[in-house]
Amino acid sequence: MTTSFSKSLKDFASEFDRRFGEYLTPGDDVPSELVKAIRYSALAPGKRIRPYLVVRCCELVGGRAADAWSIAAAVECVHTFSLIHDDLPAMDDDDLRRGQPTCHKKFDQATAVLAGDALVVLAFELLTRHVKDQAVAARMVLELALGTGWAGMIGGQTADILGQSKPPVLELASYIHKRKTASLFETSCRLGAMAGRGDTDTIAICGCFGQSLGRAFQIADDLLDVTSTAEELGKKVGKDALANKQTFPQCVGIQRSRTAATEEAKAAIAELSTFGPQADDLRALARYVVDRNY
Ligand code: IPE
Ligand code: IPE
Ligand code: MG
Ligand code: MG
Ligand code: MG
Repeated sequence: MTTSFSKSLKDFASEFDRRFGEYLTPGDDVPSELVKAIRYSALAPGKRIRPYLVVRCCELVGGRAADAWSIAAAVECVHTFSLIHDDLPAMDDDDLRRGQPTCHKKFDQATAVLAGDALVVLAFELLTRHVKDQAVAARMVLELALGTGWAGMIGGQTADILGQSKPPVLELASYIHKRKTASLFETSCRLGAMAGRGDTDTIAICGCFGQSLGRAFQIADDLLDVTSTAEELGKKVGKDALANKQTFPQCVGIQRSRTAATEEAKAAIAELSTFGPQADDLRALARYVVDRNY
């Protein structure tokens, strides 16, 4: 089940990447070094889970994938920005990402900072340029700003860094997971449902699914840092404990972390109870997120 889902996610990623490459084609006057760094990081092989959420939640509420691709690209721009900055020496100081040298290693720190900056701004450009109904575009801009900004992913990243100087505490790890990772998952689902013109209640359901899924996903990410290999993940492992990160395994050990991830995935699936088989691929994603080894 998870293996066949993993294949459909890969197929989705190929389709997304083709379109993403087009959205990442600049006009004439953009410095080529910046374009190279952006495309290097953004088009590297990512799993594209957030774009998948945008497109599938759009379809779930009756919308067309065609209306979701630019929004999926916007979310992946924010995500790639978060990865480039996360890897900088001032943050997690990583030199491997998506199976290749991190942006600041391949280029330099100034270019990596600026590539991240440009990507987050590009995300909002894509929303305003490609969503034709301006009232809907404005709501989407607000949604993405909330998921990305000081109350969302960036707030969570701040708590993650501050948490390195504190003893491991589960409540703090949960707080960090909710923001640094689950915020953008929630936003991706809500944006997809908005793109499909879902009603307020349906958008809220999709958001709750995304929040639980994001928590499950980050617990699994914490676990993989302890149990997997760099070859498998395309990023270094064993770094969280060395950096004194607030992770689930640090707080409650591997076994209880696995249970917590499974519980969050079940909670995500429970959010979809009002939907029939049309939500099956999202249910499969929730199972994949905790069973994955990549
Ligand atoms: C990595 O996200 C950052 C976290 C939130 C743990 P992904 O594991 O989705 O990274 P890519 O996009 O597949 O490289
Ligand atoms: C990062 O969490 C979450 C982001 C918002 C980028 P991690 O620091 O655990 O992500 P990885 O393990 O480096 O991908
Ligand atoms: Mg980090
Ligand atoms: Mg990191
Ligand atoms: Mg991690």
